[in-house]
Amino acid sequence: MSGRALQAALWDEATPGYTRIDNLDRKPFTSIDENLLFCGDAKKSLALLPSESVQTVLTSPPYWSLRDYEVEDQTGCDDSLESYVASVMDVFEEVRRVLRTDGTVWLNVGDVYTSGNRRYRAPDRKNRARAMDVRPPTPEGLKPKDLIGIPWRLAFGLQEAGWWLRSEVIWHKPNAQPESVQDRPTKAHETVFLLSKEQDYHYTIGAVCGPGGRRLRTVWDLPTKPLRRPANWSADHPAMMPLSLARQCMAMTVRQNCVVLDPYAGSGTSLIVARELGCRWVGAEIKPNYVDLIEHRVSGL
Ligand SMILES: C[S@@+](CC[C@H](N)C(=O)[O-])C[C@H]1O[C@@H](n2cnc3c(N)ncnc32)[C@H](O)[C@@H]1O
Repeated sequence: MSGRALQAALWDEATPGYTRIDNLDRKPFTSIDENLLFCGDAKKSLALLPSESVQTVLTSPPYWSLRDYEVEDQTGCDDSLESYVASVMDVFEEVRRVLRTDGTVWLNVGDVYTSGNRRYRAPDRKNRARAMDVRPPTPEGLKPKDLIGIPWRLAFGLQEAGWWLRSEVIWHKPNAQPESVQDRPTKAHETVFLLSKEQDYHYTIGAVCGPGGRRLRTVWDLPTKPLRRPANWSADHPAMMPLSLARQCMAMTVRQNCVVLDPYAGSGTSLIVARELGCRWVGAEIKPNYVDLIEHRVSGL
């Protein structure tokens, strides 16, 4: 058994698994004594958590106007760029409340281009979820084909709301999918911001080293990896973060026995890594099928 598997097994023995919460109309928790999996909206789920109970957050909100997860009240299908940014910022207000004063957030968010005159996004052959029936018009002040700069719009908003913006990491995907565009380089990266609630925060500098044992730099080469689907399991997630990215982020900002949170848990990548690191975890995910997938993954099936 590998060290990591052994650690997870020992942890599983010592902790009571997790509780799935489908009905958010309930009494708030006064402490987080077990792993919690909310099936519902991020903001409403986080409202049920006690203040200053979470050490670190790793999350990747839906990108604006890129995918339709086909569920009511989802983030990402907002009519305007402003309402998209406002809805993520709104969740971050709750994130701020539940974060410990020495806590941190890793925020992975990708950029998109304006729609030009197209009012839909054609399906991508390799990624069928990357399609939208209705695509919002080009935001005011931008032009067709403009790169929107979504990560930085969010980062500036969060800075203004009082967060410390501590690092911009470029997650370079060496195996990025080709694009059919002829007038710009192919996109092969996403942004990951490190944010803190206060000026000083918990961070273990030596927890991860870069190539050649050097101190970790801000450009990380990490390939994307499709989910190895369990046999007889049809659910899939179109926007999974690789485990390697989650491991690299969290190793530096967790403490022993702390709580890790992902308000947009997707397929549960951050929750799985939290478990590997011996932490408790809390995830919220709005789409019931994905919550089932998380249950499958965290159970190691
Ligand atoms: C980019 S994916 C996260 C992927 C995740 N990091 C992983 O590795 O699987 C964003 C997720 O947010 C979910 N989502 C969308 N709107 C939400 C909301 N209001 N509250 C909670 N989850 C939401 C989507 O269903 C989607 O699974």
